[in-house]
Amino acid sequence: MKHLLISGAGISGLTLACLASRVGIQCTIVERNSLGKMGSGIGGGLGLWPASMAVIASISASAVQEVQARGSWMPNAGYYDREGRKLAGPSSRFSSRFPVLCLDRASLLDILQKYATIIEDGKASVAILENTTIGSLTTSSTGITVTLSTGEIITANLLVACDGIHSTLRPSSIKPKHLGYTYFRANVPLSSTSQWHSKSFESWGQSSTTHTQPLRFGFVPLKNPTGFWFLAVPTTPPSPIKPSGIHASIITESKKKVLLDMVSGWKGPDSDVELMKTLIETAPQILQTDIYKIPNVNAFSWHTYGGRVILLGDSAHATAPNIAQGAGLCIEDASVLVYLLEKLPKDWALVSDNDWKEMSQVYEKMRKTRARVVQGMADFIATVGQVGGVLGWTRNFVMRLSGRLMPRLQAWIFERVVGYSLGGDSKRWYWAPPATKHRGYCILEEVLGKEKVDMLAPHVKEFKTCAGIPRYGTGIVTVERSANWVGKVLGNLMGLPTAMKTETFKARVSALDPAHFTQKWTRVFGFGKPGLQKSYSTTHCVMRDGFLVERVGGILDRVVQLVYTIQIQDNGKRLVFNSCGIRLLQWYLPSRIISSDWVETATDSGWLFDGTISLFGIGKLMRYFGHFEVSPRSVLTQPKNHAIVSGGTGMIGTAVVNSLLLRGWAVTVLTRQSPIKVTHPNPNVEFLKWDAKTGNGWSTAIQSNSVLLNLAGSSVADSLWWTEKVKNQVLESRINAIHAMRDAVAQASARGISPKGFVQASAAGVAGDSGHLVVEDDFEFVHVDSVSRVSNFRPSTCKKIEEAAVESFFDLIPVSVVRIGHVLSHEGGLLPYLRFAAFAGVSKIGTGHQFVPWIHIDDAANGFCTVMENPNKFSGKINLVGPTVATNQQVLKSCRGLGLIRVPEAVFRGALGESSCVILDSERLVPSRLLQSGFHFDYKTVDEAINSF
Ligand SMILES: Cc1cc2nc3c(=O)[nH]c(=O)nc-3n(C[C@H](O)[C@H](O)[C@H](O)COP(=O)(O)OP(=O)(O)OC[C@H]3O[C@@H](n4cnc5c(N)ncnc54)[C@H](O)[C@@H]3O)c2cc1C
Ligand SMILES: *[C@@H]1O[C@H](CO)[C@@H](O)[C@H](O)[C@H]1NC(C)=O
Repeated sequence: MKHLLISGAGISGLTLACLASRVGIQCTIVERNSLGKMGSGIGGGLGLWPASMAVIASISASAVQEVQARGSWMPNAGYYDREGRKLAGPSSRFSSRFPVLCLDRASLLDILQKYATIIEDGKASVAILENTTIGSLTTSSTGITVTLSTGEIITANLLVACDGIHSTLRPSSIKPKHLGYTYFRANVPLSSTSQWHSKSFESWGQSSTTHTQPLRFGFVPLKNPTGFWFLAVPTTPPSPIKPSGIHASIITESKKKVLLDMVSGWKGPDSDVELMKTLIETAPQILQTDIYKIPNVNAFSWHTYGGRVILLGDSAHATAPNIAQGAGLCIEDASVLVYLLEKLPKDWALVSDNDWKEMSQVYEKMRKTRARVVQGMADFIATVGQVGGVLGWTRNFVMRLSGRLMPRLQAWIFERVVGYSLGGDSKRWYWAPPATKHRGYCILEEVLGKEKVDMLAPHVKEFKTCAGIPRYGTGIVTVERSANWVGKVLGNLMGLPTAMKTETFKARVSALDPAHFTQKWTRVFGFGKPGLQKSYSTTHCVMRDGFLVERVGGILDRVVQLVYTIQIQDNGKRLVFNSCGIRLLQWYLPSRIISSDWVETATDSGWLFDGTISLFGIGKLMRYFGHFEVSPRSVLTQPKNHAIVSGGTGMIGTAVVNSLLLRGWAVTVLTRQSPIKVTHPNPNVEFLKWDAKTGNGWSTAIQSNSVLLNLAGSSVADSLWWTEKVKNQVLESRINAIHAMRDAVAQASARGISPKGFVQASAAGVAGDSGHLVVEDDFEFVHVDSVSRVSNFRPSTCKKIEEAAVESFFDLIPVSVVRIGHVLSHEGGLLPYLRFAAFAGVSKIGTGHQFVPWIHIDDAANGFCTVMENPNKFSGKINLVGPTVATNQQVLKSCRGLGLIRVPEAVFRGALGESSCVILDSERLVPSRLLQSGFHFDYKTVDEAINSF
């Protein structure tokens, strides 16, 4: 069982419990206060930025609706002086770019408490123990044991300190630091006619009583009919520090009078002379909180007891409230921690002490910078906003002048700074929570909101969400191109395909980076038609709320981006994308110089599409339309098959893992790296550490529906020069990996579990230099002493690997040995070298007549999946190469160089030595078994394969 103990039922603790329980982790929260009292004392307003809203959305869609229903969107805020004159402010678009939901803390706590205790399908339970604290704690290799103030003893895997700024679990040497000011704040009723329902501001100026004391007064409307205001006043630190949570006290009527005097004569924006006075006078109760932060968040570690106790929320990084992001940070922390907890092996009994420690270190690393930035910005606002005297006057003068002379620049700087404080980067405005099991990964959802995306047809939604697995589809397309020469040139720079009529079409979408919502679309126009085939790739990301950004592809890809608005029409049947501007490098130009309009209409199994890219003054650059079929469907079912893949993080391994996921498998990837450092956005993948020599520590992952795939081992491609050391390493690492697999299967069978099969990767190099001889699946050399003119290393090594695999498993489970050809991919392997050679003008190497056993990476991945899906049928040896043969000369020709130079064999051999056999040997493998079984190759010729990249 997975058990999380949480100290503190504040925003941090409750968010963590909501998220963790939804991925099956049982939670116990220990709260010192009574729940009924929660939020009352420290009440007041709270701002939630989009990152926090995204985390709340991952709890449940209805949780977001409830939060929205009880909050109110913050209107564009600006900074003013005490005369009501504007100092700085954002552009009018600001609030659509940076939507902030304001609500009172009690409402948020209410909602979180409710969702922590609702039991849904597959959700673990949350117990909240009120009026309780943690007495003592001890750790052991099995977890953490605490004694509560009630005397009860609880054991858990991990203890998370969500007990706020005065955490008792944080090392006592780290003390909150008083920041030199205090906040007075209140919720006030607004009259229904008040214009302040739709305004917010912060005013900076000197106190009317002392004339030197710099003050900040801020206001935001909450849910009608209330508003929230605060007044920041410099003060000397009280002693002693109040010992619990965020402390707030209610001020007396006489103190209220003092506040009124401080701001007497101040004007609100629009020269509203009565505003501050009214807001203070009508407050039913005013709270006071001294402002502290936890200093040096970078310097101390956020975990203790070997990673079994973790600080989360204010306990780690309490910050001044000046940019309304303190609670946001807590909510973000919780989503990161749960994301990392999900990356641990499914069975927490397998998680070692070291893994806990590493997990906690990664958590800390992922959060520290962001926390420090927020703290820094919050302090900066106080520093700038709370200067008095000449400095304050100068500040106001400079800000007003720049606002008047360069309002755009000022607004731009303002937005940059806000974007920065929100953890944004050049791709997006805000930090975004990592994908978790509970939260797919959907750009459309980011842009349109979940409710709207839910209107889409299920197959459209599923495809576009692509939850960490690349998705494919095929269709028919017609391309029309501009007849104008300017249009042609520009279109070619963008890499647009040539004109074609009702030709085949293939598209693939993949999530590049789960944390940043980037999707890459690759479309192969004229798919499978040599000469016509052309691939066109663009990258999508979310730039700001409500906008999608697409890089245009081709040479201009990094330079020009189209910015789209998206609409859903016709009850979710139609998706309409209209570009509303372009981004040139980093600058946004709201113009339609280059524009793109795109409509998708859902059909039963895909959608009809029609899009046009046009240029002002020239007209259409390209229009393409047709229909698109989503396939394969329904990957989000409960996995029935389970794969254990070693070497799953390499080029081929990654592709195989993705294909398995697409086919609905659950995958355990064995890696020698620390599991927690390698991550995958798809929840059906888990990473386990192995030593590549034994089954220790991971054999328990074997189930009766498992198939083991061994891709591990050092590769000949890792080194151009084959020294004896390199060669030994290649053989030894592969043999060791086979023995580790054998060991694990033996351990599993001792438990009475027998997996479905074992698949070992071998290579086409097993054929040696076999000239025109057709090499069938069952081909085998009896002796490999002189089968290649250059080197016998590959055939002899492959033979040894194949024999070791068969010997190790034939008496236990079905064994397949897959002889894989040169895998064509733009991410590695031989293709980049070949392309370089062709680019340099090479037409052939050696005679050019030697056969090259090629295979497209997609087909290679599917080939492995097919074998793994039918371990009995495919036991024995399998050739995994393309369905047609190609010679070295043909391959280089497909790489489209000038083809002038012939590199003689002797020269090539002289340069590379033994490893030149990879290029010089002729290996004419044919995939007879796969073809006979009806396996479908997506890429039938080497030309199609090479030109799909
Ligand atoms: C004046 C002010 C205004 C703010 N405005 C904003 C804003 O606009 N936007 C925003 O995002 N953030 C804002 N913040 C920050 C935000 O309130 C905090 O960051 C957030 O509440 C921290 O949540 P937490 O759960 O980590 O800690 P807390 O809210 O402090 O919760 C800690 C919980 O642990 C309990 N506890 C304490 N000690 C123990 C113990 N030993 N055993 C068991 N339980 C214990 C406490 O009773 C409490 O329930 C503001 C803060 C202040 C002071
Ligand atoms: C906690 O204390 C409050 C009063 O302080 C009380 O009303 C409540 O019942 C207590 N809860 C429990 C579970 O004892």
